[in-house]
Amino acid sequence: MARKQRAGRLARLSRRGVVSFFGSAVDPDGFLDDVISGLSQPQKALPPKYLYDAEGSRLFERICRLREYYPTRTELALTRRHLREIVRFAGERCELIEYGSGASVKTRMLIEHLRPSRYVPVEISEAALRDAATRLGREFPWLDIAAVVGDFSRPLKLPSRGARKTRRVAYFPGSTIGNLSPSEAEGFLRMTRAQVGASGAMLVGVDLKKDPNVLHAAYNDAKGVTAAFNLNLLARINRELGGDFDLRRFRHYAFYNASLGRVEMHLVSLVRQNVRVGHSRFQFDAGETIHTENSCKYSVDEFRALAAEAGFKGARVWRDRRGLFSLHGLTANE
Ligand code: AVJ
Repeated sequence: MARKQRAGRLARLSRRGVVSFFGSAVDPDGFLDDVISGLSQPQKALPPKYLYDAEGSRLFERICRLREYYPTRTELALTRRHLREIVRFAGERCELIEYGSGASVKTRMLIEHLRPSRYVPVEISEAALRDAATRLGREFPWLDIAAVVGDFSRPLKLPSRGARKTRRVAYFPGSTIGNLSPSEAEGFLRMTRAQVGASGAMLVGVDLKKDPNVLHAAYNDAKGVTAAFNLNLLARINRELGGDFDLRRFRHYAFYNASLGRVEMHLVSLVRQNVRVGHSRFQFDAGETIHTENSCKYSVDEFRALAAEAGFKGARVWRDRRGLFSLHGLTANE
């Protein structure tokens, strides 16, 4: 264990702030394995985490600025508006663990006002993590940053708190939790509950159920940025795994599935065709789809019930005036 941690430590980058990097095994063959098994299922599917290579992350940032895509700016505005209460809820000087790269304005706002004893960003993309952590280290020279490269969807060992035992608060903004199915989300919350302990808490951004037309527009923007984001997954398979997807023969397709309370994103094969990835061949019928993402939406009560199943009490909830987005403050429910 000690050896693994030493080997995984990547660098100490900032001279002013203390930025330490911790590695955890990210399987290099995982992508190929996941693509082959995903395309071998009766309903072809690919894990949404692969949407975020460098190009995908760039496209996602463009999505966040689109007029139709309300979640990012709504969550930012409601965090700013309720910042004092959110800080009081989390508790100053806590240890703040963030799942995701943490380069956002929201994160900087929280760090500035919480003044956490340590900030622990957990991110699967080493480049994104390095970028964000280094930038934050320069901006907040007083901040102790322990950056962890790892897949937060799996149990993961965080750098120890030593003797300090300060309160741990997990921050999971952006409604990324919506990518998980409700039962996966429950498992994820349970894992986080174990990580923060009995005195810990969680702040989680959750997109709310709403008029399906609003949802439809958000995932079918007029400029086609979401379509490009979705199709980039096939381009990435071509680039990294030697696939031969013809992007002109697939089309972005996103809709709100009301009975399952989620936006589904698919890529539709426009014709009957064969595609090769590595040494495998896959056949597509005309109209057959690859399911690339779910984005689950919850009412406040639905999400509270889910959190309760995972051992959290829905202590607080903050919402924007239009009822588009929610930020839940959860505490351990002993
Ligand atoms: C980053 C997962 C929250 O589901 O809204 C945006 C990703 N997909 N447009 C979302 C996404 C299509 C986004 N999350």
